[in-house]
Amino acid sequence: MNETLRVIRSRRSIRKFRPEQIAEHELEAIVESALFAPSAMNAQPWHFTVIQDKHVLDRMAQLMKENMLKSGNEFMVRRASDPGFSPFYGAPTLILISADAKDRFGQFDCAAAAQNIALAAESLGVGSCIMAMTSLLFASQEGVELARSLGVPDGYDHVCAVALGYKDGPAPAVLPRRRDVVNYVK
Ligand SMILES: Cc1cc2nc3c(=O)[nH]c(=O)nc-3n(C[C@H](O)[C@H](O)[C@H](O)COP(=O)(O)O)c2cc1C
Repeated sequence: MNETLRVIRSRRSIRKFRPEQIAEHELEAIVESALFAPSAMNAQPWHFTVIQDKHVLDRMAQLMKENMLKSGNEFMVRRASDPGFSPFYGAPTLILISADAKDRFGQFDCAAAAQNIALAAESLGVGSCIMAMTSLLFASQEGVELARSLGVPDGYDHVCAVALGYKDGPAPAVLPRRRDVVNYVK
């Protein structure tokens, strides 16, 4: 197995991070990898908001919990009620990925960028977790104001976030993959 295939196979969603910040050169390489994701017609209809300020992350985590509790979704309410629940799993870096709402393929392009981020991180020994539950962050007026204050451009919708940090403990076990989802026509 070559290095690329090994990285693809070894990436796991990490949900427990050490508090120390990732190295600046690692962050730069990860962000650069996002910018090199493919996009339909090379439109690059994305925006990346890199957040490393602990006070901002704590405020966002609090807002996320409040919105989960208000969501009316039983699963979300149960999760947010758990005193040990930390919406970003204690990650010291969070990248919000937003798509130009006018671009037909914006969400696809952002998903490709998220995967580039996760794989680049893994290749550097940095853990990651792609999260779409973060859309709840922006599901209130306070969330809309938060997005603006964080520099998300007007007209861009939140797609997902990627939590980044050094893994606290061994990576979780590989989850089984379905094998009945492929057919070949040769
Ligand atoms: C679009 C998308 C949204 C996801 N949202 C969340 C999320 O909100 N919270 C979370 O903990 N994990 C989230 N995940 C991670 C998945 O749960 C995880 O990828 C899946 O269980 C397979 O595990 P693995 O990534 O370790 O292979 C998301 C993954 C994707 C691709």
